[in-house]
Amino acid sequence: MLGTGEDGVLMTETGLEVPMPDGMSAYFNYYWLRDNCPTSFDFETRERVFDVFGLDTGPKAQSAVITGGHLEIVWQGTDHVTRMPLAFLQEYATPGQREDTANLVKTPWYSDHYSNLTRISNAELTADQQALKAWVHAMLTDGVALLTGLPDTDEALFETARMLGHVRPSYFGHSFEVKTHIKPTNLAFTSKALPLHTDLPSEDFAPGVQFLHCRANSVEGGDSLFVDGLAVAEDFRALYPDDFKLLVETDIPYYCEHDTFDMRARQRVIELDESGNISGVTISQHHSDVSDLPQRLLDRYYPAFCRFGRMMRDKKYMMRFRLNAGECIVFDNHRIVHGRAAYSATSGERHLRGCYIDRGEMRSTYRVLAGTGRFQ
Ligand SMILES: [Fe+2]
Repeated sequence: MLGTGEDGVLMTETGLEVPMPDGMSAYFNYYWLRDNCPTSFDFETRERVFDVFGLDTGPKAQSAVITGGHLEIVWQGTDHVTRMPLAFLQEYATPGQREDTANLVKTPWYSDHYSNLTRISNAELTADQQALKAWVHAMLTDGVALLTGLPDTDEALFETARMLGHVRPSYFGHSFEVKTHIKPTNLAFTSKALPLHTDLPSEDFAPGVQFLHCRANSVEGGDSLFVDGLAVAEDFRALYPDDFKLLVETDIPYYCEHDTFDMRARQRVIELDESGNISGVTISQHHSDVSDLPQRLLDRYYPAFCRFGRMMRDKKYMMRFRLNAGECIVFDNHRIVHGRAAYSATSGERHLRGCYIDRGEMRSTYRVLAGTGRFQ
């Protein structure tokens, strides 16, 4: 049955053609309209409470009109009436993902970024929500920020991390201590040079955001080395498109094994999002497992992998600096590649305390601070 109301709403077998505030017409499926009726959401929990599976037959409009800035639908076979704001319909009138304020354009950075690093003091963060928002904004665009003035306590790291999200444990626990250990289970826990890497690729979902709180750093050497994996991968894509494709399409094995754990997972060195944009990199030579890829594939894979690894070490990309006591470097572990120069363990004390949160929770924090939720 087709029907057109005086206000131009066209009823079809499967949905409505609705004139939109922008002057265009948009089609909306009946299931979608019924499922997303404002009454489908509980005011208190803000969760959907309508059960679309419980419909005996597919929903159909008996009448549909525009009145008072709303589309009003009387449904067939029920006394339920849907009143849906046209402004809400306009948001969904064209296909595409819902606009996301946390989906900010990532800005690649290079070796000279240290002087431009977003720096925020612990005092500012605890006093001002705008400082907190500026911090998350930097995390989403640059993937890194430097916090200053943290107290020299164990709790300071967690208190800082909790501003963005819940601390999520790894197989090393809720936190880890980067200093020379008597029986190290990780290269980071020695005074040797630590090659550029992202943390814990042997986990199914490698940690999203890493916090490193410098408690002490009086040693000779031990400079921090940070590279924007996004900047390298963008250039790599332009210069070596075939190699780029290999690193994007091939899962490789990672491991981390010691007396009490045997972690294994497969990751791609370069990850793309659904739009084809570079969304992350995963690099860790010290956690790369013995490759089980076909040897003939390795004829092509190894040269591409090494070309990318060498490019990452180019001075053009390397931000080298000394992390000082009281500072906390916070970075996206799926984008920022980090390492450390060797240091002399007997020349003083070097102690970083670290933990992780997930990236999704950080984006959630940004949306809440921006006040762009659907239930505002
Ligand atoms: Fe690390």
